[in-house]
Amino acid sequence: MNLHGDIERVLFTEAEIQRAIDRVAAEVTSAYDGNDFTVVSVLKGSCIFASDLIRRIPIPLELAFLAASSYGSGTVSRGLRMNFLPSDNEIEGRSLLLVDDILDTGKTLHFIQAELDRRGARGVRTCVFLDKPSRRVVPIEPDFRCFEVEDTFVVGYGLDLAGRYRNLPYVGALREEVLSRHSRPDSTTG
Ligand code: IMP
Ligand code: MG
Repeated sequence: MNLHGDIERVLFTEAEIQRAIDRVAAEVTSAYDGNDFTVVSVLKGSCIFASDLIRRIPIPLELAFLAASSYGSGTVSRGLRMNFLPSDNEIEGRSLLLVDDILDTGKTLHFIQAELDRRGARGVRTCVFLDKPSRRVVPIEPDFRCFEVEDTFVVGYGLDLAGRYRNLPYVGALREEVLSRHSRPDSTTG
């Protein structure tokens, strides 16, 4: 079985992704030059983006990870919980750059940002690989982003469907018959 066969069309090629990351890395570098900061990668989806991004930022930074997931099921309204959080001394008084794979409804990043503020971060900015503004429920805009995408479910470069496709080196839309094997994917499992 080859994952490439499940992709209907490629939205962003490897080369386009690398160029966009060069641009965003330069923006982040000038925003934080002279200020100590920590890149907080939201697992699992942002691990590939974050590791490409930080290698293009030539100023001092620290790296941390966190994970959040939803609870509740079916039509019951969902909430979010933190599964894994950096220790207090990695958050308190630090400037944080929260890095995620995609800003969709905005619930995940809004929740995480509030939690980091509550734990005493000095400031929290957001950097997302993809931004899907048409799906926004919570009013939140990313400080940095690589690409805006239409309202299509996409996979690859860290983004998954039911845990798969994260390892594709490009971003693609899935074929209809692949999508129809799954119900609306849970948007809050990282
Ligand atoms: P939000 O809380 O709705 O903004 O959801 C953010 C999370 O939903 C992301 O971190 C992804 O894990 C997931 N997600 C949203 N849209 C997509 C998509 O098109 N493909 C894969 N995952 C997605
Ligand atoms: Mg996910």
